Amino acid sequence: MEPDLSVEFAGIKLPNPTILASGILGVSSEVMVRASRAGAGAVVTKSFNRKGREGYRNPSFIEVPGGYLNALGIPNPGMDEMREEVAAVSKAGVPVIASVFGFDAEEFAEAASKGEEGGAVAIELNVSCPHVREVGVEIGQRAEMVSEVTRVVKARVKLPVIVKLTPNVANIQEIAKAAEGAGADALTAINTALGMAIDVDAAAPILGGVYGGLSGPALHSLAVRTVYQAKAAVRIPIIGVGGITDWRGAVEMMMAGASAVQVGTAVMYRGVDVFREITAGMSKFLQENRYRSVREIVGRANKSDHI
Ligand SMILES: Cc1cc2nc3c(=O)[nH]c(=O)nc-3n(C[C@H](O)[C@H](O)[C@H](O)COP(=O)(O)O)c2cc1C
Repeated sequence: MEPDLSVEFAGIKLPNPTILASGILGVSSEVMVRASRAGAGAVVTKSFNRKGREGYRNPSFIEVPGGYLNALGIPNPGMDEMREEVAAVSKAGVPVIASVFGFDAEEFAEAASKGEEGGAVAIELNVSCPHVREVGVEIGQRAEMVSEVTRVVKARVKLPVIVKLTPNVANIQEIAKAAEGAGADALTAINTALGMAIDVDAAAPILGGVYGGLSGPALHSLAVRTVYQAKAAVRIPIIGVGGITDWRGAVEMMMAGASAVQVGTAVMYRGVDVFREITAGMSKFLQENRYRSVREIVGRANKSDHI
């Protein structure tokens, strides 16, 4: 018998646990629908805020060993236009999660409302964005800020609210608990890790914005560790993301405690077919190991005495 790949978390039902990660295929609804047709169980939009952003100067995206660094600066056309893109994806019958950000809690809440109006199934809060009052600090690095943004958004929308964790913190469990305590329905872990690259001939940083977010295989073990630790700290479901390129990486993430997985960078270099490859591989693995449902592997590797 074919194993059951369907998952349910935070009241969201998906035909399989793979989700297109935020920011990967740009802002247009067509590419999000294409990812779904190619097998993704759901899609996350590019993060958007109230008025939109231009992004940083080039070079803003480079290849490094095992992955990529991007310093795009979250370019997006703003919440009014993104509301229409969300609506187009939703009308096509695709479960769409609206990713929002802001420079304060109110901006997060306004963008989240637009996502809700557009027909999103959930809101994902991208807290890996700059803190207005503290230069060089991400909102997601401060438990009290994560808590405030989550509370304000929860009060504004009826949809499930998912907080996307940044790995650039000393204690992930503290931030995960802050989000849960403020009413988050789920967590996504992780966003990119802060990195940089230097042009040795020019003796200067390569990226226009100096630092960039590391994504791809180089991030995978860091992401698995983060999911594993977050799982031990909270009761709410976790969506695992970071360096997943094949079914094994997806299964690993779920065994660490993820109820679903997001795929980002691998879609950029392997194309949207990666979703079907991952679900086919997962299905074969489950069958060979006599699991009847993918839900049986969630948190399977958790050993509480190691956390
Ligand atoms: C080009 C690019 C753009 C991204 N844009 C966003 C974004 O707008 N919002 C967000 O929350 N994450 C963004 N991310 C992070 C991804 O959603 C994901 O968390 C990260 O890349 C790790 O997963 P991966 O290794 O599968 O890519 C972006 C990543 C890349 C590579």
